[in-house]
Formats: sequence, structure tokens, C-alpha cells
Amino acid sequence: MQEIIRQLEEKRERARLGGGEKRIAAQHAKGKLTARERIELLLDEGSFEEWDMFKEHRCTDFGMAGQTVPGDGVVTGYGTVNGRLVFVFSQDFTVFGGSLSETHAEKICKLMDHAMKVGAPVIGLNDSGGARIQEGVDSLGGYADVFQRNVLASGVIPQISLIMGPCAGGAVYSPAMTDFIFMVRDSSYMFVTGPEVVRTVTHEEVTAEELGGAGTHTSKSGVADLAFDNDVEALLMTRRLIDFLPASNREAPPVMPLTDPAERMDDSLDTLVPANPNQPYDMKELIAKIVDDGDFFELQTDYAKNIVIGLARMGGSTVGIVANQPLVLAGCLDIKSSIKAARFVRFCDAFNIPVVTFVDVPGFMPGTAQEYGGIIKHGAKLLYAYAECTVPKVTVITRKAYGGAYDVMSSKHLRGDVNLAWPTAEIAVMGPKGAVEIIFRGEKDDAEKIATREAEYKARFANPFVAGARGFIDDVVMPHETRKRVCRSLAMLKNKQLDNPWRKHGNIPL
Ligand code: HXC
Repeated sequence: MQEIIRQLEEKRERARLGGGEKRIAAQHAKGKLTARERIELLLDEGSFEEWDMFKEHRCTDFGMAGQTVPGDGVVTGYGTVNGRLVFVFSQDFTVFGGSLSETHAEKICKLMDHAMKVGAPVIGLNDSGGARIQEGVDSLGGYADVFQRNVLASGVIPQISLIMGPCAGGAVYSPAMTDFIFMVRDSSYMFVTGPEVVRTVTHEEVTAEELGGAGTHTSKSGVADLAFDNDVEALLMTRRLIDFLPASNREAPPVMPLTDPAERMDDSLDTLVPANPNQPYDMKELIAKIVDDGDFFELQTDYAKNIVIGLARMGGSTVGIVANQPLVLAGCLDIKSSIKAARFVRFCDAFNIPVVTFVDVPGFMPGTAQEYGGIIKHGAKLLYAYAECTVPKVTVITRKAYGGAYDVMSSKHLRGDVNLAWPTAEIAVMGPKGAVEIIFRGEKDDAEKIATREAEYKARFANPFVAGARGFIDDVVMPHETRKRVCRSLAMLKNKQLDNPWRKHGNIPL
């Protein structure tokens, strides 16, 4: 018995050491933590239950016979984040470069299957050289097994990917199918083909950082949601994100004890919207003043800044916030912002998170770049997402709600539950200037007449009352009472039930 215990301890020690002291030192020298150090920071102290610590690969090709390390380059198991269950896998770059073998994939699949069964999030800490080259098709099959589970888990349990080292080739497609991707600046990158292949095929000279670093994916491609300076920050922010999320689609989002009165007023909001309709203001100021404790977990902060998305709490419960940002492109909807918001609305809908929308949108962005890029199809994504969404939807129009964008932004017509407007709201097909230029084209040389027509149009439509008369908005509210009105609406909608017709799945314009 004692001999077995000794062997067990020895094996555990061997597994904990991963690729050995030298490789651990190299990992630290790159500013990266090891797979186990990351898990320690991510989970509540002492909560980690590890599985498959002794699992080893069975490959004998290319010198792999006898070259085994217990755990085979990935640490897997479950634990808690602020007391709530999560599953985690953490790739160990010190063991065969964290490369994915058949057995490495089996370990990830096992924990994903369990997470689906019990209904809890999966957090993947990615740091890998990709498919284990010595294993050939076995490792490719392993990746596909993970991809299949990513898809089946989509909309069932939250899936979060942290990219904390290389993530290249087909390996990028597992994170791509998860709900959120966080990257670490200067030590992580994602690309389908690396700089060398790019140089050979397209003759472009580009560094790994430029091609697929955190900056690129959070601001240019929109592949990643957020970038952090180091592993520690990324892991701590993941804990914060988990606090907002339900464990699965079978649960309501968590409710936190209320420290900020739901009926709190904020008089400063009464002067937020400038008198001049062409002057911008910061929509984030409004969000910070309305949500519980000003705590807004913004996502995709550096991408398509003309729309703001993120998680917050109102009355203690999680809500998804979508808001046009007048500070950027006057808050226009374009291809990128439509895709960004559509995916977020669908995430909220899948996980029972009510959507609160703040509207100040002058319309869709005009131009050849947008039309050639397919704004028709991509703008339709946001329309589709709001229209199919059955969670509580509360909308506040602060200023402009023009044209198709008025319809799209969670309007009453798309089953908006409570639609409110500030007195400054302007709900019309377009702004007064553009409208008069079209319908009174014949009078364009008569400045005085045009000015009168504009004033007439403004008096008729640049207010919330026509929409109010139709019941398209439920009430005109003073800005300072917005928090109270939204919190009451959400409380009223708590037991909302709404189903879409049965279908295998819809056909969202992709
Ligand atoms: C086996 C690998 C490996 C891999 C790295 N290693 N990647 N072993 N299979 N894919 C090993 C190295 O041999 C080395 O072993 C150790 O891990 C550390 O690697 P280094 O190269 O020393 O580290 P570094 O200089 O930091 O470079 C990291 C790297 C590089 C950029 C990731 O290792 C690299 O280019 N690896 C190959 C990447 C790749 O082409 N993968 C296949 C992608 S295609 P020793 O013993 O020397 O320490 C793919 C398909 C997925 O993934 C398909 C899904 C559909």
C-alpha cells in the first residue's frame, strides 16, 4: 500500500511539473503563467478538482514512444468562481508546446460533456502550438471532436476562451465558436495562417503581432472581445464576467444583493442631450448613471465603437445593454456595428438575459463601401436578432430614431415590451434637412421656404408625440427617472413568456 501511495505521489509530482523546470522558467520569462498557476488564479482557492491527471498519449511515431508526460499537455477539471460551478481546461505549453493530441482532445471533450450534462460554463485557457504534428490525423480528429461539442454547447452553456499564447491554424475555430474571447497583449496571437505562409502566398510582410495579436483582433477584426495586459488581469476579468452569467440556458441570470436603490434618480441626465441635435454626447455616461452602482462590463470596447454593448445589472439582475454611441460616426449603424450588436443580442436571448436598448441613431451608414460590403445582409442580422429575441426587451429613445434604424433598434414593432422615449426624442423617416430636400425639391432655391418647411417637419416629427399617439412608445419619461422606469419595467417583465413558432432553426442572413 505504501509503495502505491509513493508511486501515486511521484506520478502527481511528475504531472505537476509538466514539461520540467527549464520549460516552466521559459514560460515565465515570456511573462506567461503556467497552466496550473492560471487555474489557481481563475478559481476560488482550493476548489479545483482535477481529472485525468495521469492520462498519456499512445503515439509511437516520430520518436514519441516513451515520450509521455502525465496529463498530456492539458490540465482539466472543475471548480468554482465566487461559489458557482465552472469547468476549465488549461493547455500546458511546457508539454509538447501545449499541442493537441488525440488524448489531449479526449480530456477536453470529457469535461465539455459533463458541463453540458450538469449545465455549467466551460472556460478554455488556450496556449498551444496546434495539432500535435507527430500524431497526424488523430490530432485533427481530436480538434473536430472539440469543435462538434462547441457547436452543441452553443446557446446551452456559456463558453469562454482565453487566448494566452499561440493559437494558430484550425485551432482558432474552437475559440471562434465560443461566446467570448479574451486575449493577452504581447503574448497571445490567433491566425489561420502564420506570417511565413502569408509572406509566401501573398508577399505581405507582417509580424505575428500585427497579423493576429490582441490589438488586431480587438480593434480590426472583432474576433476577440477584450485585451488585457497580462494573464492575471485576463483571469480576474473572467471571474467578473462569470458573475454576470447564468450557468446555463436552463437558469435565470444570477441576482446580486441590491446596493443601489432601483428608484434612484439622476438629475444630471436632464442636461445630457445637447440642445443642438448635431452635437454628440457620450452614451456611456448615460449607461454608467443608470445601471446598478455604475458597474458596466463593456464588451468589444475597441471595435465598432458606434455601438456599445455589455453586461450590467439593474435592480440586482443581469441585463444586456445595447446602445448607439453618438460620439462615433454620429451613432450610425454600419456593417461592423450591426454584426457586433446582433451576436450580443442573440447571446442574451439564448441565456435568458433581458436586453435594454438605448437609441440615438440617425440611420444606416450610406456609401459604396457599405453597400459593396453587404450592409443589407449584415444590417438584417441585427433586425433578425431583435425580432426573434423573446427575453424582456426595454427600449429608451434618447434622441434620434430615424428610418430603418428606428425599426431595428428594438422597436415596438419587433415585440419590444416597454418602449420609452425622452422628451428630446425625434422619431421620423429621416432628419428634417434631408426630408425637406427630397419632398420639397422644387423649392430648393428658396432658402426662406426651405427654412419654413424644415421648421414644419421638425414640429411634426422631431418629437416623441406622433409615435406616442400611435402607441409605438408607451410613455415619455424624464431623463432623471430613467433608471426607475427601466427597473420597474424589468420587474414587471420578470415572468414574461413568449415562444417563437417551432422550427429546426431559422435562417439568419449570415
Ligand atoms: C508537436 C510541438 C508543436 C506541435 C510546438 N511543439 N508545436 N510539438 N506539435 N504542433 C513543441 C516544439 O517542438 C517544442 O518542443 C515545444 O513544443 C516548444 O515549441 P517552440 O517552437 O520551442 O516554442 P516557440 O519558439 O515559443 O514557438 C511556438 C510556436 C512553434 C510558434 C507555436 O512551436 C510552432 O510554430 N509550432 C508549430 C505550429 C503549427 O504549425 N502547428 C500546426 C498548426 S495546424 P521542444 O521539445 O523542443 O521543447 C493545426 C491544425 C488544426 O493546428 C486543425 C484543426 C482543424
